[in-house]
Amino acid sequence: MPPRRCSAPGRGARRRAAGTPATVADSIARCAARLARARLAYGHGTASAADEAAVLAGHALGVRPERLPALAGRRPTRAQAAALERLVERRIAERKPAAYLVREAWLAGVRFYVDERVIVPRSHIAFLLRERLAPWLRDPRRVRSALDLCTGSGCLAVLLARALRRARIDAADISPDALAVARMNVARHRLTGRIRTVRSDLFAGLRGRRYDLIVCNPPYVTAGAMRRLPAEYRHEPRLALAGGRDGLACVRRVVASARRHLNAGGVIVVEVGAGRRRVERAFPRSAFLWPECNGGAAVFIATREDLPG
Ligand SMILES: C[S@@+](CC[C@H](N)C(=O)[O-])C[C@H]1O[C@@H](n2cnc3c(N)ncnc32)[C@H](O)[C@@H]1O
Repeated sequence: MPPRRCSAPGRGARRRAAGTPATVADSIARCAARLARARLAYGHGTASAADEAAVLAGHALGVRPERLPALAGRRPTRAQAAALERLVERRIAERKPAAYLVREAWLAGVRFYVDERVIVPRSHIAFLLRERLAPWLRDPRRVRSALDLCTGSGCLAVLLARALRRARIDAADISPDALAVARMNVARHRLTGRIRTVRSDLFAGLRGRRYDLIVCNPPYVTAGAMRRLPAEYRHEPRLALAGGRDGLACVRRVVASARRHLNAGGVIVVEVGAGRRRVERAFPRSAFLWPECNGGAAVFIATREDLPG
């Protein structure tokens, strides 16, 4: 019998020895374990280390996260593995939400460009728009004009335009930086003919304008909660989060003026996060509705007739 030659290790063994994961599933699992050990905060479109790992892996591999299961058994290239490694290192070292690292976020299945000029899209209002605000909006086809107040990235304006095909939409924000991002998203979704961006301090720049529908996701974090924000949230614009002492500084102004900007039978939808009790104390005679959405009651709905003024 010829003596057994000591053969060179195969390519697979060399890759594993060099630390390249054998499969996409392995690399996601490794990435998730590292994120979990680093005790990061989530909540920017993802709720866990595993979700966040999928976002980073999808970007490194150049596919949508929901395509990953189909690729689970494939071997990532060296370049893909290295790209994922760099993203994981940055996520841990900088405590930046994955959406900012990959410059995109998904809301209601729709992709948006994001960077630190806007908060990462995660509005509860998006879940109501999926159902075209049924049953609160009796006939979505009759909505001809809508306002997305505090538009940020323009995500809700784009979702409004997709849900209400006959509506023209104003997307308003006080921040020129946010409006620059909103314009990018409006253009990417080919909606420049239906969505107009407007610089406005709440309704101040919208004098005389009336709408069938207003949606508003204003800053509503209380001063106390702002002081306790995890590092990830501090990468977001303070202007987009800070809602004053009780979180209702913008909400009070919106409620006080909204009636003048709604057509008869018009509806306003306002997001307040965990602020329901505070809103009910601030407006004790209001008949606001609190739809159950995305597992909570973070949004109230009022008709023009329910509003003061
Ligand atoms: C919570 S973010 C919502 C962004 C976007 N609508 C979303 O759902 O992702 C609030 C936005 O309100 C804007 N904003 C803050 N104060 C404002 C004001 N007085 N008038 C208009 N916009 C304001 C901020 O610039 C920020 O873009």
